[in-house]
Amino acid sequence: MSRPLEPRGAGLPAGTGTPLLLVAVLWGGVGLGGLVWLAGGAASWLSGHGWQVPPFDTASARRFLTGGPAALWPQVPGWLVWTLTGASLALVTTGVALLAARRGARTGTGLAGPAQVRHLLPRAVAERARGLRPSLPCTGEVAAEETGLALGRLGERGPVLRASWEDVLLAVMAPRAGKTTSLAVPSVLAAPGAVVATSNKADLWAATAALRGTDTGERVWVFDPQAITGTQQDWWWNPLAGVSTVEEATRLAGHFLQEVRGDKSGKDFWTSAAHDLLAGLLLAAACSGRDLRDVYEWLNDPVIPTPAVLLAQAGFPASAASLRGRQNGAPETRDGVYETARTAAQCLRDDVILAWVTPPGDPLDELDTASFAGSRQTLYLLSKDGAGAAAPLVAALTDRVVRNGVRAAERRGGRLDPPMVVVLDEAANVCRIADLPDLYSHLGSRGVVPITVLQSYRQGVRVWGEAGMDTLWSAATIKLLGAGLDDAKLVEDVSRLIGEHDVTVRSYSDGDKRRTTSTALRRQRILPPDELRALPRGTALLLATGTRAALVRLLPYYRGARSGEITAAAAAAIRQVQRVRGQAEGVTAR
Ligand SMILES: Nc1ncnc2c1ncn2[C@@H]1O[C@H](COP(=O)(O)OP(=O)(O)OP(=O)(O)O)[C@@H](O)[C@H]1O
Ligand SMILES: [Mg+2]
Repeated sequence: MSRPLEPRGAGLPAGTGTPLLLVAVLWGGVGLGGLVWLAGGAASWLSGHGWQVPPFDTASARRFLTGGPAALWPQVPGWLVWTLTGASLALVTTGVALLAARRGARTGTGLAGPAQVRHLLPRAVAERARGLRPSLPCTGEVAAEETGLALGRLGERGPVLRASWEDVLLAVMAPRAGKTTSLAVPSVLAAPGAVVATSNKADLWAATAALRGTDTGERVWVFDPQAITGTQQDWWWNPLAGVSTVEEATRLAGHFLQEVRGDKSGKDFWTSAAHDLLAGLLLAAACSGRDLRDVYEWLNDPVIPTPAVLLAQAGFPASAASLRGRQNGAPETRDGVYETARTAAQCLRDDVILAWVTPPGDPLDELDTASFAGSRQTLYLLSKDGAGAAAPLVAALTDRVVRNGVRAAERRGGRLDPPMVVVLDEAANVCRIADLPDLYSHLGSRGVVPITVLQSYRQGVRVWGEAGMDTLWSAATIKLLGAGLDDAKLVEDVSRLIGEHDVTVRSYSDGDKRRTTSTALRRQRILPPDELRALPRGTALLLATGTRAALVRLLPYYRGARSGEITAAAAAAIRQVQRVRGQAEGVTAR
């Protein structure tokens, strides 16, 4: 059974409820009697008989219970006594409720309730969406999916909280904690505009691709050079299209270098030199109508003069000189730099991968990354992890589509409408865009909504370094921390970030004749590190800018309204993958 969504804190010790209830009932009766007594006195005074009250004792109580108000105040109309009793009871109840609410605010769970996350609730999110998306009607109902991405349900049965189209998201959850089923799949299916989705597994594609195609009626592109989904190649992308400046070439080269750079942030001589070399070769190929095949050939021949000649002819004399200088330098250094560049670009060694990013023999559609953001198309990018994988190309294509989306938004006066949703599932494995943390800070203002999904904070540090991961963490306006947080420093930091609250602590001491109870307020972490570490699967801590932390119940697709449809589509897609794999293995065996 799942644990209730509630941190440890105030609450009565087990077994103390019954005596306290008896005491409460007893004193409640006495209090009610007092109210009737006062109301009777007041009624007598109001009806012109002066303040006349019987003794406040059990005999009067018995008379009242048997004969009603007339037994104690025969001169006063009964209805007046009852009315005044009701009014004073309402007054007292309201006072007690207000006091309890004030006390509750100080000693509650300390986590956000609906009032604290008001701006994530459906009404506020819809209001904000209208402001951000001129295409939405100014009045009337707007479908929830059009207003923002669902994050989870507040508490067990609370309202669904949504991110707005201005938010940028980061999710950190352990393996099998629900990243794909609760975040990636629902976000892809609910996105009102273009979608980019990365992964190293077929699960996200299987659950969503067919439905996205039918929902939008627009093309679904699957970039799968390593046959993870078994999708037949029916299009290609030219990474060199649009590379007409040293800056663009350096950026493209950076995606390859990320393979060897790790979290060293490019400060190492060999990676910096290899970055420079690869950028020169990519620029030479791009400005002369050549392709990535030529680039890989040039990487294998450190003395070939062609790329430097092409750079000089295309009007890049400085790049040509730099390349020539590198080729004429000390052979040991030159070979080391070339070797590093070759390692970075080793995915280009694979002809099957290369076929996706070089001009095809037979005519195939070419992906137009410039118009993608303005469509409702879907682009899945898949790569395996590890050496030689297509991950640099996944990062390069994601980066190109995202930056073209930002440019399109700028051309339209600021924001994409509908927004583009970029789900970077397994981002640290297959989509290591070096400056993703810096991009984050302005994607939200352009209607590009990224969701970076990591298995742990450390996984992000390994890709972007401590400083980069810190930037990503700070820039993300919505952070979802799910089950399985095992990083001692992270849980301690987050626990401190969430803060402390007052809890009521009752203590009991047994004297000679009776037990005495005393209560005191004590400051306590709202979510101590051990509780944070033990968040149950299916739940997550939501940290949204400007609000208290909230505990949410995630919304996996298999418990949602479309669960049947999605499960059937996923099963059919997986069967298709198995069939294709079986055929491929059969061919290999023969
Ligand atoms: N259709 C389903 N019905 C019930 N449970 C499911 C279903 N699909 C997945 N699950 C369960 O949901 C949990 C989360 O799965 P999910 O694939 O979302 O995890 P994840 O965080 O993406 O993991 P990974 O890091 O391995 O990608 C798993 O325990 C899985 O067994
Ligand atoms: Mg997953």
